[in-house]
Amino acid sequence: MILCANFKANKTRQETQAYMAVVESFVSANEIDEAVIVFPPFTALEHISRNVLIGVQNAYPAQNGAYTGEITLEQLEEFGIKTILIGHSERRHVLGEMQEQIAAKFRFFAEKGFAIIYCVGEPIEIREQGNEALMHYIDAQFEGIDVNYADLIVAYEPVWAIGTGLTPTTDQIVDMHTALRSKTHAPLLYGGSVKVDNARSIMELQNVDGVLVGSASLSANDFCEMIALAAELKQQ
Ligand code: 13P
Repeated sequence: MILCANFKANKTRQETQAYMAVVESFVSANEIDEAVIVFPPFTALEHISRNVLIGVQNAYPAQNGAYTGEITLEQLEEFGIKTILIGHSERRHVLGEMQEQIAAKFRFFAEKGFAIIYCVGEPIEIREQGNEALMHYIDAQFEGIDVNYADLIVAYEPVWAIGTGLTPTTDQIVDMHTALRSKTHAPLLYGGSVKVDNARSIMELQNVDGVLVGSASLSANDFCEMIALAAELKQQ
């Protein structure tokens, strides 16, 4: 299983350090061999290479340059960061990133050999239009994306499930993950209101290879519990 914590714009550098200490010691004390990745805000990026990977939530696709408010490859290299989230719903819908920009970002960081967690997901009004509209929408989010990229992980995060406490039914998750599986061999994560209470039932679904957790990951203890659930599932 792959367990990702997306802090979004939460936690200070100090809080992130304290968090990482808890998660790292949990992972080593319990001999966890699941992949654990934390995406802190820019200000809390760290140069560490222990048992929990640090990734970046976003970056501009350039070596460096005149891109006010962005960070680029140069700043990531300083911290040895080689993992990036691309296409997150908040980048698409809150920050207005268009598919073309997202695809350019994907190409750049793929060329640089980054592990890419590529996010897709539909707003509620699209889901309400039925399966054809839904798949058409998701397909469009793969325009310009190399689904055969070796270091790709795909995350399905329905927009209406993010930060709302709503989750799709297990059938809806399985249907979407089955459709995604027919597109790519990449591991498939589910994201959107994953919590300790539902993590197990989501992770045990067919074609779910892990979870991308937002608000519930902000508690180090809750995130560790989800890691433990993933490890338990494997032993069964
Ligand atoms: P929540 O877990 O807060 O719903 O957020 C999901 C998400 O967007 C993770 O990237």
